[in-house]
Amino acid sequence: MTEAILLVGGKGTRLRPMTVNTPKPMVPAAGVPFLTHQLARARAAGVEHIVLATSYLAEVFEPYFGDGSSLGLHIEYVTEREPLGTGGAIRNVASRLRSGPDEPVLIFNGDILTGLDIRALVDTHETSGADVSLHLTRVEDPRAFGLVPTDATGRVTAFLEKPQTPEEIVTDQINAGAYVFRRSVIDTIPTGRPVSVERETFPDLLATGAHLQGMVDSTYWLDLGTPQAFVRGSADLVMGRAPSPAVPGRRGDRLVLDGATVAPDAKLTGGTVIGAGATVGEGARVDGSTVLAGAVVGDGAHVGADNELRDGVRVWCGARLPDGAVRFSSDQ
Ligand code: GDD
Ligand code: MG
Repeated sequence: MTEAILLVGGKGTRLRPMTVNTPKPMVPAAGVPFLTHQLARARAAGVEHIVLATSYLAEVFEPYFGDGSSLGLHIEYVTEREPLGTGGAIRNVASRLRSGPDEPVLIFNGDILTGLDIRALVDTHETSGADVSLHLTRVEDPRAFGLVPTDATGRVTAFLEKPQTPEEIVTDQINAGAYVFRRSVIDTIPTGRPVSVERETFPDLLATGAHLQGMVDSTYWLDLGTPQAFVRGSADLVMGRAPSPAVPGRRGDRLVLDGATVAPDAKLTGGTVIGAGATVGEGARVDGSTVLAGAVVGDGAHVGADNELRDGVRVWCGARLPDGAVRFSSDQ
């Protein structure tokens, strides 16, 4: 196993208006574009070749990640003219894959932060002989996800994307957005039209008796669907709750990036990131917030947890900002 497809296109890839021109995968988490963490984790699991399947603002990825060599990867980029859906996007990059028909290809949703043991998913795939293997996780409210009931052996019995009625909520196991596909299964997805892997490919495969294997892994898992989730994910990366080899510094209560100025007696806790150009004054306190380039926190100021301070923000000396008082983005 050496290659993976990363899905980073579609309609829901922008966080507005915080990042009007920044696709979600490029929004910083713990000091680097979020996608860096997924790429670095894949590399650490032995992946060498990654195809980025995208449909939106593709031109922002390539200038940053280039051929991937700085991460020890070979990255290729494929842009859909119109979004092809998750299945269509996978099929659309098939010609870039190098694996043989029976070899496993990893596929990742591009908006998930997880501690998944990627090798274990591949091992499960190989020992079960499945056509497709899926990482599953348990959540309290599964309605926003794909429900994946399994039998006693972990074999998938149904795939119910975004269930609408209470009767459809048959399990708390959901699709966690990481798969291993037998290469030849990818080639069976129709070309040239949008296909949803969740609404079409998985149900069709099950209907025709294909073997889909689930691996429930209750490791760290977070869907970065909302701006608040992004802030939490970044803090979890900084503090080491979410594992990533790409965090640029030592894990702990805070991450101070090159080019930031922090007074020695400032207190930074809860996974705060102080970015380049940011200044935190004497005696200031920042609890679990994200302070990015250009923000200034004055002497003696106290910034509560879960605030998001970006370019140009000035927090007055001695001012107090309660928890969750300022966010840079809308709820969309
Ligand atoms: N290239 C490309 N083209 N990528 C796409 C497209 C497309 O047309 N549509 C979606 N994607 C990418 C998204 O960028 C994201 O990384 C991933 O595919 C999943 O799409 P979302 O739009 O984020 O789906 P979701 O969050 O509602 O649901 C998915 O993720 C859940 C876990 O977070 C599904 O896979 C659910 O079954 C799953 O539970
Ligand atoms: Mg999503």
